[in-house]
Amino acid sequence: MDDFSRFKVILSQDEIERTVARLAEEINRDYQGRRLFLLGVLKGSFVFMADLVRHLHVPVEIDFVRLASYGPGTKSSGKVRLVHGPGASVRGKDVLVVEDIVDSGLTITFLLEYLRRRKPASLRLCSLFMKGSPQSFPFPIDYLGAQVPEVFVVGYGLDFNERYRNLPDLRELTTDQDAEEVVP
Ligand code: XMP
Ligand code: MG
Repeated sequence: MDDFSRFKVILSQDEIERTVARLAEEINRDYQGRRLFLLGVLKGSFVFMADLVRHLHVPVEIDFVRLASYGPGTKSSGKVRLVHGPGASVRGKDVLVVEDIVDSGLTITFLLEYLRRRKPASLRLCSLFMKGSPQSFPFPIDYLGAQVPEVFVVGYGLDFNERYRNLPDLRELTTDQDAEEVVP
């Protein structure tokens, strides 16, 4: 058994479900009559993407990119690179980036600039979670689920060293039992 019961719940399964449904409602309203190109950021966004798309009524194309920013552990390396680009061209499409969490904004700034150069018809960002305050980013988060405290969170797709992505709720990571590592 993976014992994560000691991790404090930040957002319950129920709260996340309601948040995802609310975001989908906003997206359905704004993209009425259009076709959406959803671009998920792997790996963290896979759970969110799966739940979000089942609430969407507009026609969607789904793709993923893989970026590397965080090394092992919980601190950003400051460097971002594209490990796996979108399979299809984004040119002329209404692109909506689907991200799990925005922290410093480094990862998403890199991706949005990369995509903008490839001339989509429109480019927006949907992030389920964010840390810090929206004022500290150089771009708007067009669809934001919830602000979370500035602690390391796991669950609902988010990991610590590839663990805990399967948790149905969002929890604060406090200690890693196996490594006996205390997370700052
Ligand atoms: P930046 O700082 O570039 O970070 O905005 C965004 C990326 O870092 C990961 N991240 C986290 N992953 N728990 C995680 O499991 C966290 O608390 C956390 N904070 C940031 C995430 O992958 C995101 O794409
Ligand atoms: Mg991660």
